[in-house]
Amino acid sequence: MKILSVVGARPQFVKLAPIADACRDRGVEHVIVHTGQHYDPMLSDVFFRDLGIPDPDVHLGVGSGGHGAQTGAILAGMDEVLARHRPDWVLVYGDTNSTLAGALSAVKLQLRVAHLEAGLRSFNRRMPEEHNRVLTDHAADLLLAPTEVARDHLSDEGLAERTVVVGDVMIDVLHRVRDELVDTDAVLRELGMPPGGYSVATIHRAENTDDPQRLRAVVAALQQVDHPVLLLAHPRLRARATEQGLDLDGGSLTTRDPLPYPALVGAVSEARGVITDSGGLQKESFALRTPCSTVRTETEWVETVELGWNVLVEPGPPLRAAATRPAPAPTDAAPYGDGHAADAVLDALHAGG
Ligand code: UD1
Repeated sequence: MKILSVVGARPQFVKLAPIADACRDRGVEHVIVHTGQHYDPMLSDVFFRDLGIPDPDVHLGVGSGGHGAQTGAILAGMDEVLARHRPDWVLVYGDTNSTLAGALSAVKLQLRVAHLEAGLRSFNRRMPEEHNRVLTDHAADLLLAPTEVARDHLSDEGLAERTVVVGDVMIDVLHRVRDELVDTDAVLRELGMPPGGYSVATIHRAENTDDPQRLRAVVAALQQVDHPVLLLAHPRLRARATEQGLDLDGGSLTTRDPLPYPALVGAVSEARGVITDSGGLQKESFALRTPCSTVRTETEWVETVELGWNVLVEPGPPLRAAATRPAPAPTDAAPYGDGHAADAVLDALHAGG
């Protein structure tokens, strides 16, 4: 069996790591295509290095651009790559423009496509990620769903027959990194933060960064939290803040560049809270049992909210209040699987021929 993975953005590199490991362990041929959607070393190279992912076989180098230009550049680049490699499966991950373009290019060449992290829905049609998810799921031949909730969404859209629940590969990589790679004392020293006395924040989604009024409100709320908040600033956030003449640092808020994955896991595990609009971080906070406040009006990861470890908040007083709430009652619920999702993915691809 030959699998060709298409990745391009930071969360996809994290999800790729356990798949690359499983392919290596089973002797499965695995071609890695990096679209180049993320090109800053801290959003890309450090993930390959720290997580031991083999260098990409192909780099399309598309870079940034509007949705159409970026998606189109990937599509244009993929024809030749797919014709050259002729994989048994094209594997696409998550919900970025790289996901949709990878799926569409394979469908056009009549190659089979599997979508990892299928069936997530926010039901918010204003999010670019929501278009990417829905279109990718309907194009794909095999839908690898992380949870039962995701399976139900696919079933509601008439896609039950193509669906297999495999668990969440982000839990696979999180467990490995937490157990093998994190030196928490070194991370806390480097961040200059007291254990249990700070929150980790990330804000990068278009709905928060691209509306000047909303961004101002988010930053003001973060600055007014009653304990130190460490904001790991995505380049998109820095770019928008500069355009709007907004100073991110101030009050309780300190910014720094994004962290490598092991340092992020260390920082979240020792934090008193997480404030974010990232999908992955909501799950990672839950898995590390750090209370999360999500600056969005809805979430795809409803299990984290139902179990009491995540709350959806508006910027302003609700955010400030949520950031200081105590941790909920302990739970041993594992809605995202047992850390062996990558094996289930390869089993499903094998079973599909
Ligand atoms: C993308 C995904 C989002 C995912 C996120 C993870 C889409 C539509 N969105 O958002 O779902 O959660 O990745 O980080 O695919 N930039 C840089 N350097 C880089 C990459 C981006 O400076 O390496 C800046 C550029 O100004 C660029 C902007 O960030 O225009 C947005 O980048 P883009 O890849 O389009 O989207 P993300 O916001 O990163």
